[in-house]
Amino acid sequence: MPLKIGVLISGSGTNLQSIIDSIERGYINAEISVVISNKENAFGLERAMNHNINAVYINQRQYESFGKFNDAIYDVLKNNQVDIVVLAGYLKILSHKLIENYKNRIINIHPSLIPSFCGKGYYGIKVHEAAIDYGVKLSGATVHFVDEGADTGPIILQETAKVDYNDTAESLQKKVLKIEHELLPLAVKLLCENRLEVVGRKVKIKELN
Ligand code: GRF
Repeated sequence: MPLKIGVLISGSGTNLQSIIDSIERGYINAEISVVISNKENAFGLERAMNHNINAVYINQRQYESFGKFNDAIYDVLKNNQVDIVVLAGYLKILSHKLIENYKNRIINIHPSLIPSFCGKGYYGIKVHEAAIDYGVKLSGATVHFVDEGADTGPIILQETAKVDYNDTAESLQKKVLKIEHELLPLAVKLLCENRLEVVGRKVKIKELN
């Protein structure tokens, strides 16, 4: 039985699309059983519906606490028999309960080389603005396991993007997104094939026998 993936989004969902496409062309052996967004008008919800994937909007304001809101997410994941959770541009941290219940089965993509330009306040274009302002010559993307911190979990994969003198935050974002669309499907594939082993802060990638 292929594993079931739940994808959490907050926005346009180009990373979600890269997973959908990778599944459809047989690169990843899994199915997306649900896409959850905390933003009602996230285009990613439409992408899911275009591929007949269950798409759910959960409005945090309808819950009395952050914990209850996360419980609602957890319930939807459970009801859809989700094995693996992918945060693809989801802009909130997760509750202790959610993380414990999916220990080492939740991954996130971040558009910089962690531990640079990550953590609280570093999301979306802000990440690339910070990289450009700092004057780094290399940026890139990171896929990591999710723990209770912001972008602090064990790193699974990283890939670099060159930063040219004339790059802007927007042009760097484009370069990095292209990398993200390769890196995230690869990480999902490795996770689905049970080839990731967390050893302390390090992640060992097991070769296929
Ligand atoms: C990506 O840059 C991702 O790394 C970050 O948020 C952005 C989401 O883009 N976490 P999209 O919604 O997948 O197009």
